[in-house]
Amino acid sequence: VHWTAEEKQLIAGLWGKVNVEECGAEALASCGDSIWELLIVYPWTQRFFSSFGNLSSPTAIIGNPKVRAHGKKVLTSFGEAVKNLDNIKATYSKLSELHCEKLHVDPENFRLLGDILIIVLASHFAKDFTPACQFAWQKLVGVVAHALARKYH
Ligand code: HEM
Repeated sequence: VHWTAEEKQLIAGLWGKVNVEECGAEALASCGDSIWELLIVYPWTQRFFSSFGNLSSPTAIIGNPKVRAHGKKVLTSFGEAVKNLDNIKATYSKLSELHCEKLHVDPENFRLLGDILIIVLASHFAKDFTPACQFAWQKLVGVVAHALARKYH
């Protein structure tokens, strides 16, 4: 992939405003104004997280500390992509192996999580989330999903 200077700026600029803790938990779990979150909107994704305990309702999901901790992990990892825009494949090589060989996560779910992240960012930063900004972010979540799916066979 090629990134224009403007795209890099739009990605880094928005990411600088993200509170990883809050947004991460929300991308995986919150309901409130955005009912669009992965475990709630796509309930089949819950089966990968059976070790996380109670996911029986949106309230349980939002209040689940393991879900929150995990959201932070995933978002922190996403930050690695932001920092290494020109080297995303290598950045996610190990994680791709993990998700494929150990976790057996269907890679389609990477796209779903990417879409949810976009929705969360758009709802948090409505003013900054211009079409150009959305374009750059769609491109980024696509590249990340692709990189994570790379070790699948
Ligand atoms: C674990 C990143 C998408 C399921 C992890 C870990 C990271 C990560 C950093 C922790 C690895 C470790 O502890 O060494 C990401 C990123 C994603 C993504 C960047 C996409 C942007 C998904 C999706 C699913 C998923 C869509 C399932 C629907 C899991 C599971 C674990 C995990 C089940 C292990 C959780 C545990 O038992 O602690 N992921 N992930 N991931 N991921 Fe992902």
